[in-house]
Amino acid sequence: MLGGRRVLLGVTGSIAAYKTPQLVRELTRAGAEVRVVMTPAAAEFVSPLALATVSRAEVVRDMFPAEPSQGTWHIDLGMWAEVMLIAPASAGTIAKLAHGFADNALTALVLALRAPLVVAPAMDTDMYTHQATQENLDILRRRGVVIVPPDEGDLASGLVGPGRLPDPPVLIEVLEDVVWPGRRDLTGTGVLVTAGPTHEALDPVRFLGNHSSGKMGFAIAAAAARRGADVTLVAGPVHLATPRGVRRVDVTTAQEMRDAVMGNMDGVRVAVLAAAVADFRPATVSAHKIKKEDLGDEGLTLVLERNPDILAELGTRDRGGVLVGFALETDDAVRNAREKLERKRADMIVLNNPLEQGAAFGGDTNVATFLFADGSTEELGLMPKSDLAHALLDRAVYLLSSRSGA
Ligand code: PMT
Repeated sequence: MLGGRRVLLGVTGSIAAYKTPQLVRELTRAGAEVRVVMTPAAAEFVSPLALATVSRAEVVRDMFPAEPSQGTWHIDLGMWAEVMLIAPASAGTIAKLAHGFADNALTALVLALRAPLVVAPAMDTDMYTHQATQENLDILRRRGVVIVPPDEGDLASGLVGPGRLPDPPVLIEVLEDVVWPGRRDLTGTGVLVTAGPTHEALDPVRFLGNHSSGKMGFAIAAAAARRGADVTLVAGPVHLATPRGVRRVDVTTAQEMRDAVMGNMDGVRVAVLAAAVADFRPATVSAHKIKKEDLGDEGLTLVLERNPDILAELGTRDRGGVLVGFALETDDAVRNAREKLERKRADMIVLNNPLEQGAAFGGDTNVATFLFADGSTEELGLMPKSDLAHALLDRAVYLLSSRSGA
């Protein structure tokens, strides 16, 4: 999405400035043409030569150009940019921007900027949460500046809290949303996604589970949020960061997942059940660790009982929205997936087989076939889970609009 786009990166005096050469590399890898402008304080934290090398362009640092013929350089750059990102943005620069100062190359350039401005604050927690900084950020927000909330975590000061510069993929995603706002077709739409495995306890230390990493469901939740949806993500036990703009409900067992789904269905128009829910759970859960010495020679016989089927239960509901299920099949896949679609009364099933090349649990890609309630099917090739998520949502948006007669 950033292919051929002209991105102006402003770097200010914050310790996180040392991360900016990597940010420039990732921006150029994403296809963007990058120019860099730095404040004098930024040069204390990162070498202008490093930024010039990775951006393959001269870095702008001086308020006044070396050559008189370059007199309007800041206006030229302000007109050249299609989007400007200030990352990291220090408290001092944020204050100057809020009040229209033009006392260095970067702040002067912002006043001449015609493109959208994205600001990623990065500083010590106390400086970030200070009323002055928050009020300055509010001023910028009211002016239409996009503010990227800082990550929370360990800070250079030794404190822990908000103030870390988000990683380049997060910043790039924000820029993509800014330069490509067209795909906001789920704005205000309630979307619920399930993701990951469930764990069914056997005793206090053991469980029955599966290899789902949650990546597929998280990609769907992230894609829906980027398209403007109001997303609830019901996540089994996984080790993934919550996508930006998504409300997350963590659960462990199938029963908890069922309760979380049913309790969060109000206002949901699109439900996508990508979780690998355990069909069965141990009928009894031992209060103590089961010891092999207590079992004798016969070993352990497990008695399992059925878990609720969340997709099937949603299928019985009177609903105006779209219900999308997944089918994990390794044999006779299409026939089994269609049987699932009909039995669980879904509008659409995403069939995948983790034994297939590029479709493994935990991988970043998948290979899927869409099956629809009208009998049609659509085979998709190998693609990143993020692209599959958008393809799925494209079909869900279409089904939703045909349902409401739009
Ligand atoms: O998490 P990843 O590592 O990224 O892997 C992704 C995935 C392979 C887990 C995912 O793409 C996937 O296929 N998820 C569904 C796995 C599954 O449980 O399939 P199933 O065929 O057993 O279930 C069919 C449908 O019923 C699914 O939508 C499932 O969420 C739902 N179901 C199943 C059992 C149950 N008790 N309740 C349910 O709602």
